[in-house]
Amino acid sequence: MNREHARQRLEKLRAEIARHRYLYHVLDRQEISDAALDSLKHELTALEEQFPDLITPDSPSQRVGGIPLKGFKKVTHTAPMRSLADVFSPEELGAWEERVKKFLRHSTEEAVSEGGYFFVEPKVDGFAVSLTYKNGILSAGSTRGDGVTGEDVTENIKTIDSVPLRLELPAVLAKAEVKDKEHGVGDILSRYPRVKAAVAALPLLLEVRGEVYMTKERFAAANREQERLGLPPFANPRNCAAGSIRQLDPRIAASRCLSFFAYDVVTDLGQETHEEGHLIAQMLGIAVLPLTKCCRNLAEVVCYWDEIAEMRESLPFLIDGIVVQINSRALFDALGVAGKAPRGAVAFKFAAEEATTIVEDIILQVGRTGVLTPVAVLTPVSIGGVVVSRATLHNSDEIERLGIRIGDTVVIHRAGDVIPRVVRVLVRLRPHGAKPFRMPKSFCGQPVVRVENEVAYRIADPAACGEVVHERLRHFVSKGAFDIDGLGPKILDRLMEHGLVTDPADLFALTKDDVLPLEGFATVAAENLIRAISEKKSITLARFIFALGIRYVGEETAIDLAERFGTLKRIMVASQEELNAVPNIGEVVAKSIAAWFCDPVNEKLVARLMREGVRVRRAVSRPVAVPLAGKTFVLTGTLASFSRDEAKEMIRACGGTIAESVSKKTNFVVAGSDPGSKRARAEALGVPILDEAAFRKMMDLL
Ligand code: IVH
Repeated sequence: MNREHARQRLEKLRAEIARHRYLYHVLDRQEISDAALDSLKHELTALEEQFPDLITPDSPSQRVGGIPLKGFKKVTHTAPMRSLADVFSPEELGAWEERVKKFLRHSTEEAVSEGGYFFVEPKVDGFAVSLTYKNGILSAGSTRGDGVTGEDVTENIKTIDSVPLRLELPAVLAKAEVKDKEHGVGDILSRYPRVKAAVAALPLLLEVRGEVYMTKERFAAANREQERLGLPPFANPRNCAAGSIRQLDPRIAASRCLSFFAYDVVTDLGQETHEEGHLIAQMLGIAVLPLTKCCRNLAEVVCYWDEIAEMRESLPFLIDGIVVQINSRALFDALGVAGKAPRGAVAFKFAAEEATTIVEDIILQVGRTGVLTPVAVLTPVSIGGVVVSRATLHNSDEIERLGIRIGDTVVIHRAGDVIPRVVRVLVRLRPHGAKPFRMPKSFCGQPVVRVENEVAYRIADPAACGEVVHERLRHFVSKGAFDIDGLGPKILDRLMEHGLVTDPADLFALTKDDVLPLEGFATVAAENLIRAISEKKSITLARFIFALGIRYVGEETAIDLAERFGTLKRIMVASQEELNAVPNIGEVVAKSIAAWFCDPVNEKLVARLMREGVRVRRAVSRPVAVPLAGKTFVLTGTLASFSRDEAKEMIRACGGTIAESVSKKTNFVVAGSDPGSKRARAEALGVPILDEAAFRKMMDLL
């Protein structure tokens, strides 16, 4: 990016970040998630690093944001309420430790104090406040505001049950059996002499800082109430907590049932570590964060981070990472402040779920059914440790809804393993000449049509489009379908380019000599591929149905069909009504299946697959009809189209049983080639003998 470009981009980014900060800090409104805003800030800092002369004094990177609202009394904090720098990976955490060490010109080992070097705790997603107790009575509660000046929200704070209105001495706690993780109050007091000294009498002055938050349960209740009142829902518990604390009428805050956890005792009561500060607050009856821990080294911190991440879902409140700080207050203070945050602490965040990036292009992807899906090509961005460079836009209605244009900056969301999606467009960052997307009139040399009553556009004749054929083949050999090893997209492309494969049945006609001349195929590789294909000729009914790539028929539906009908033949001849009668199969799906099997092209494909030796095993899990119930079979000789075990499996699936020797009680003897004496015995006893064709017919196979 050249300098002029960078200047323009920075200007826009600054204005947009400042706007979001104002919304967030002053108006308690949030248009984009924290992670998305972080991502914008990240872009800004990176660009400023590249062009340091473009940094302006009003850049969001240079200050802690927000101004107090009018309407509340302003309070100047005794010491600034700072925020924390974020790290997202063990590596970044390591870099933080290096900076700490360098700054202290100390090795960590030297600094390890009794109780551990790092103090770690969950980072609760709430709203920072400062509480002051005078002579043991809650005298003031204030918001963080711009860090220097906040707002006096004492009356609202008083509505929070977890904030004591008066401090208690340990004697009261001991009576109530308030316990530390493993230890009772007495244990703590005897193990921590400084804590004991600090709480020997009520301190004249005590300032604690912590987080006002809302439990997941209360949040859900608050949103139910909003709905009942016909009001818009709150975006998240933090917004709701912050909004409630900043209401002029304390009854509103009271109705929201907020909670509070302390994380810092600001007043010097002789505590030498953050851990002691926590214990002092706890001994005086103030709720502190649970699950805190002292760690001797970063490896322990990383373990703790993993453990907390595991519990994240099950905790009653939202957290977005852990806070790691140097436990010793002396060292913590000596480290001082860098920018807006103390050097001695970091927020070690869990993977961000959102980030911003730029839409470089919108392309069309064609699926196996010929539907065209617009896809955003993105400037690669890391979200939660995974680089995202594409995001589906689903269809043109979605593009319209988002108002997305090529060149736009967008917010991408990726939760867990879910595919990334575009959640919003940051219109204010739109460059001049950003191009809207239009669905083309043709694709792959074919007209593009919009099906009535559907949002999707599709190409008129999918089978005539190379990309569709490729997609179909890819689906056919995929894990849930024929699961053919070694047939990746590149090899499929090569087979198609050489005209060796145009439909799935061609795969089974391939020979070693066909494959050998292809690039990258030596004799062994060619043999392996042919063997891999041949080994998969025998397939379960569900997999076979799934492999066909019928629209709306995923793996689950394929299993439902297989279990309901048992054989391919029955599915092929089933009417739309019969299909519709299967639980989980609706009208649209039933229509799609019936139409697929009526199409002569598809009928031919199935017939060819059978000719090439594909054998579909009947479903075993839940046969509807048990035509062979009570019938006993004896197998002899070799069957051409299935193994002994497969044949047995099929007989059992139909309710039949298998016996080893022929007797008068045997109902059928299935005789393959080279039968043994069993056939002769069957003849002698007059037991009906089935050849392979008759057996297949009985099994309802093609
Ligand atoms: S220690 C200099 N501990 O996270 C501030 N903060 O992103 C020292 N937060 O402003 C804060 N849980 O409002 C600390 N266990 C915790 C926390 C915590 C949440 C908030 C706090 C802070 C923000 C920084």
